[in-house]
Amino acid sequence: MKSLLAFACAAALCAPVHAQTVATSPDGRLLASNCFQCHGTDGRGGFEEIAGKSAEGLYSELKEMQRKPAGENLMFPHARGYTDAQLRALAGYLATVRR
Ligand code: HEC
Repeated sequence: MKSLLAFACAAALCAPVHAQTVATSPDGRLLASNCFQCHGTDGRGGFEEIAGKSAEGLYSELKEMQRKPAGENLMFPHARGYTDAQLRALAGYLATVRR
C-alpha cells in the first residue's frame, strides 16, 4: 500500500515536469545550445548573432564551413561535429528565435 501511494505521488509530480521539458526543449534547441556559449543564449549576442537568420541560409553556411580547412577558423572544425539532420534541426530552431 505504501509503495502504491509513493508511485501515485511520483507520477503526479513527474507528469507536469515532463510536459514542460518537452514543450521547452525541442531537439533543435538542445543541439543549438552548444552554440550559446559563444553566440549568446538562443543565438542572440556573443561573437556573431546567429538568431533569426533563415534556416536554409544558416544550414548552407554551416555546410560550407564543414568543407573548409579546420585550422583556419574555429567554426570549421566545430561545424563538422554535426550530421546533416542535426544541422537542419539546429538551423531550424535558430530561425524561429526573434532577434
Ligand atoms: C567556441 C566558440 C563558438 C562556438 C561553440 C560556436 N561558434 Fe559560431 N562562431 C564563433 C566565432 C568566434 C565566430 C566568428 C568567426 C570569424 O568571423 O572569424 C563564429 C561565427 C559563426 C557564424 C558566421 C556568422 C556570420 O555572420 O558570418 C555562424 C553561422 C556560426 N558561427 C554558427 C554557429 C553555430 C550554429 C554553432 C553551434 C552549432 C556555433 N556557431 C558554435 C565561435 C563559436
